[in-house]
Amino acid sequence: MKYSIRHINQKELETAIEWAATEGWNPGLYDADAFDAMDPQGYFMGYVDNEPVASISAVSYPGQFGFLGFYIVKPEYRGKGYGWKLWQEAMKYLNSHNVGLDGVVAQQENYKKSGFTRAYANIRYEGIGSNSVKKSKNIVPLSKVSFDELLKYDREVFPADRSSFLKIWFNQPKSLALGYIKDGKLLGFGMVRPCRVGYKVGPLFADNEKIAEELFQQFRVFVRKEKIYLDVPEVNKKAVFLAKKYKMVPMFETARMYTKEMPQIDLHKIFGVTTFELG
Ligand SMILES: CC(C)(COP(=O)(O)OP(=O)(O)OC[C@H]1O[C@@H](n2cnc3c(N)ncnc32)[C@H](O)[C@@H]1OP(=O)(O)O)[C@@H](O)C(=O)NCCC(=O)NCCS
Repeated sequence: MKYSIRHINQKELETAIEWAATEGWNPGLYDADAFDAMDPQGYFMGYVDNEPVASISAVSYPGQFGFLGFYIVKPEYRGKGYGWKLWQEAMKYLNSHNVGLDGVVAQQENYKKSGFTRAYANIRYEGIGSNSVKKSKNIVPLSKVSFDELLKYDREVFPADRSSFLKIWFNQPKSLALGYIKDGKLLGFGMVRPCRVGYKVGPLFADNEKIAEELFQQFRVFVRKEKIYLDVPEVNKKAVFLAKKYKMVPMFETARMYTKEMPQIDLHKIFGVTTFELG
């Protein structure tokens, strides 16, 4: 049996997304296009002979920022060294980057051994949508917001320019993307999208908790009686408060970790992480 590693195409990325679903990570239904657009070279797969058995993403953003995700080996092939070999290939690709990841509890010790330092926890909260909400005069479809202004805001909450990702991300089918504008200024934005189970909010960025809540209320109404998920950085106490206020319960946890210094981003504006796969 021969083990080989190759860059993968978008069809094989769907295989990795399928494995992520099997792990219970509940990926979005239409995530692949945006993931692929950010760094088409950043997805790797390990094959035993010609069978895909292992996946990892190592997305390179401008400015030497990288993010790892989709680190998965098919259950029957675990413990044979296939994951570790793939991991090393991915880290080689991101050589000299500051690399981030959202690590599951079971792997955090391994990531420490590989040079990652824990920054904070991200908690996934689960709740249910709603039937009614007050209209908010400040909320507009995100398509009405200038993309330049959106990018400027995004750089306060994300360590790199990810315009090629965002352009596609916010145009997913069956999703709702909204901005919050006051006196002509963008003070928050976010999106809810359909996933394997229910809907996930991501991102949800806002100047304060009141704006985050107004946006979140619109997302709850959009999903109606379906399940809704929000991934919250635990260090933002106001985001945790928002999740609890809507009777959401914690159901999954990761540690955000980095190989170098923690990027200078405004965590108090992050009420919902964009994704655990790409940061
Ligand atoms: C995590 C996972 C991908 C590892 O793949 P694997 O093929 O089973 O791991 P390997 O057989 O290559 O591991 C070989 C050794 O390297 C270690 N190792 C694997 N990845 C490592 C990493 N990133 N850093 C440090 N050590 C690592 C293993 O613990 C193992 O050590 P041991 O020999 O002392 O037991 C696999 O267990 C998996 O798919 N788990 C479920 C999905 C998941 O939780 N992924 C992580 C998401 S953050």
